[in-house]
Amino acid sequence: MCLFVSLISSCEGKKGYAVGVSQCSENDWRSNIRADVLREARIQGGMTVDVVSADGSPEKQNKDIEEYINEGKDLIIVVPNVASDVRAVVEKAYGKGIPVILVDRKAEDCNYTAFIGADNKNLGMQVAEFIAANTTVEVANVIELVGLEGSSSAKDRHDGFNEGAKKYNNVNLLATANADWDEDEAEQIVSSLLMDHDKVDYIFAHNDRMAMGARKAVEKAGRARDIQIIGIDALATDGGGVDQVINKKFAASFIYPTGGSEAIALAKKILTKQKFDKEVTLPVTLVDSTNASAVKRQYQAVLDQDEALQIGADGQAEGIGGHRAMLVGGVLLVCVIGGIAVFAGVKSHRSKKTDDEMLINNQLCDLVEPQPQASEGVDVNASEATPVDENDEVDEGSFDGNDGGNEDGGEPQEMDVASLDDTFLRQINQIIEERLSDSELSVNSIASSLGISRVQLYRKMKSVSSHNVNEIIRRTRLEKARGMLISTNMTIAEVAYSVGFTSPSYFTKCYKDYFGKSPSELI
Ligand code: FRU
Repeated sequence: MCLFVSLISSCEGKKGYAVGVSQCSENDWRSNIRADVLREARIQGGMTVDVVSADGSPEKQNKDIEEYINEGKDLIIVVPNVASDVRAVVEKAYGKGIPVILVDRKAEDCNYTAFIGADNKNLGMQVAEFIAANTTVEVANVIELVGLEGSSSAKDRHDGFNEGAKKYNNVNLLATANADWDEDEAEQIVSSLLMDHDKVDYIFAHNDRMAMGARKAVEKAGRARDIQIIGIDALATDGGGVDQVINKKFAASFIYPTGGSEAIALAKKILTKQKFDKEVTLPVTLVDSTNASAVKRQYQAVLDQDEALQIGADGQAEGIGGHRAMLVGGVLLVCVIGGIAVFAGVKSHRSKKTDDEMLINNQLCDLVEPQPQASEGVDVNASEATPVDENDEVDEGSFDGNDGGNEDGGEPQEMDVASLDDTFLRQINQIIEERLSDSELSVNSIASSLGISRVQLYRKMKSVSSHNVNEIIRRTRLEKARGMLISTNMTIAEVAYSVGFTSPSYFTKCYKDYFGKSPSELI
């Protein structure tokens, strides 16, 4: 029995394959890799994933990978900066039989198990093609802002763009400058280049951060009407490339996939000995004025799904934990009952023997010691093992403030569930009302204002309302907007911004979806 119990308990410690992800640094694009990796690992299941960042230090990334080797990771995913900086340690892991997947960048002649990344040369070429197809002047003069020297993505984007500029005779590469993927550097460089060049039609920046720096310089120089900006990455997060296209700050950007999800799916294939491709090329997607809003909406849908998935995963984990606890508890109970039975049997056998002996010898009855009652032990264990639903406690405890408490000044009374729910909804509405113009207001920020986790907020909301928090935020914004449109002289754009939308056209779309009429029909 005990062996069985310990087997079940030890199953809990086994969490499947151990995968280590080593990132060279953190930035907007790279924090998306992290999110993609963790989301996909939840979907794939059967693996635990550690993600560490080397904060821009190649030495630290070397150490991080070395540590993963020493910890005995089953597979390592490496997202390098300048890939040759980590070649030796990647080859060391590979040589020891640990599969290594390189993501986004790779070094020439490096030994690795698989590589996942986009075709950056083709991407550079697509940028030239976009300019050739969209320019309104006879020959478009272009400034190119290049990423960090030595990174394969920067080199390939540059090669591809140059090839494209030669191919299309209405694209003229005026100047190329290195801005190291950095926004401030890009701003400075563009400011000085604009002084040297009177006629610039496009700035192609190898990533959106540099494109933002370029846009600032162009605005400061008062040339935003004449110069179009193109970037790469097209993150749909707030303020990312997609928003810049929606807000007409960029003419275009290209979704440059992180490869995080694909790397985890590939890891699963490698670990479970399925067939896999050694080189995986990820597609890039042009985002311009025709599809930017749709891309943003799709991203929002993924986030909502992700949230549901996360909640589902937590629920399942709880369920599995609960079942395991029940199983272990059940086996323990059987052990205890079995023990009692055995003990009682031994005792009765012993007493019987004693009785027999008494009967036979009539001498030994004084020697039979009184035994403790087996049932005492059972009671104690049972009460200790009673499961406590910690979520019930957190949920209720967090919202049973003084609002709605007893008014007669007597002993505090237990609030009924309905008034707790009212209090909870009132608190949420209050937070939304107070921060209505804040476009960053989100499920996370509301949860942290309430001092609870996002998961707890989701659950609580589900139990008291048929709407989720995002829907309530959206509804409150739109209803407030309607009030403003009716009672003030504000323009649609002004109203949109003052209720927290970052794009008036997206506001118009949401408004129409919700009220069935566009906001202009009111004015
Ligand atoms: C992040 C980043 C991205 C870019 C990618 C290319 O370091 O600069 O912005 O698209 O690397 O490797």
